[in-house]
Amino acid sequence: MNETLEQAKANLPVQGFLRYKELIIPQGTELIQAILDLKKEKNAVILAHYYQPGEIQDIADFLGDSLQLARQAKGTEADMIAFCGVHFMAEAAKILNPTKKVVLPDTLAGCSLADGCSGEGLRKMREKYPNALVATYINCNAETKAESDIIVTSSNAETIIKALPKDRPIIFAPDKNLGKYLIKKTGREMILWDGSCVVHEAFSMERIAQQLMAHPDAKLIAHPESETAVLELAHFVGSTSALLDYVVESKAQEFIIATEEGILHEMRKRAPNKTLIPALVFDESCNCSECFYMKRNSLEKLYLCMKYELPDIEIEEELRLKALKPIEEMLDLSRNIK
Ligand code: 13P
Ligand code: SF4
Repeated sequence: MNETLEQAKANLPVQGFLRYKELIIPQGTELIQAILDLKKEKNAVILAHYYQPGEIQDIADFLGDSLQLARQAKGTEADMIAFCGVHFMAEAAKILNPTKKVVLPDTLAGCSLADGCSGEGLRKMREKYPNALVATYINCNAETKAESDIIVTSSNAETIIKALPKDRPIIFAPDKNLGKYLIKKTGREMILWDGSCVVHEAFSMERIAQQLMAHPDAKLIAHPESETAVLELAHFVGSTSALLDYVVESKAQEFIIATEEGILHEMRKRAPNKTLIPALVFDESCNCSECFYMKRNSLEKLYLCMKYELPDIEIEEELRLKALKPIEEMLDLSRNIK
């Protein structure tokens, strides 16, 4: 089948399922070559989060955590950004760089945090505390960002919360686990939205304690979206990129890793002689430490979104400008963070 772009647009609903099984998609090394050819032809850049499937990480031009990816998206000179991550990340790329075409392999790559905090919900919370500043984790949609005074990521949240005026209460949304961790680290009281990450909440403190007993020299490292009990047990807590740096730079040889398993791919490359043990989750029968939203993306869908330039992110300009303000504040306040 040799479909034109116009025919493909008619066939592929932007929100929903790519009927990609009906299209001809190269396989194996030909698929990789086809993606590289599309990259050249369309002057595209492929940005990927550390939680993406390994084969996507391997083909990416830039691999990073949410802060690093936002910076790359803002600074790129490419005409097209193929964003391999979840929807809110691709949306942030579009907010920062509206003249670029931003495509993502699967629009259903959502996030439990973003899905659980609407702009309207946050506006209502804000009405209850009219004097409060609203600090919102980047894991949220554009409407929610537009209701926020400042955005944070796991890399810069502590720095930013510490920098907020001391005489104003703070509403923190949507991740209550990160919020509780920040209250402890900064000493700032915050009113917390009741949201959580389905992946990081799945870790079992009891089963991790058993892993630590079985590996007495191992360091437990955890992402701050994990529950307080896990964070209290951890030797080190940090953002995805901070966990990666810790494994590479630490003198320890063994690590129990309480975050999404995709990061192990880059950890294995950068620290090939170290022993990396995924932390255990409550339910032995599930792959709960893999984010099923992140794993919706595949090389086939990456190829299709680049070829047909769909699904692409579009944001109404008034909303974009409102959402841009708190993101820019964040980038400004975290200039010195890696
Ligand atoms: P990072 O900010 O560490 O990239 O985290 C993003 C995320 O979705 C964690 O679950
Ligand atoms: Fe959202 Fe959690 Fe998946 Fe990150 S790991 S994208 S916070 S559901």
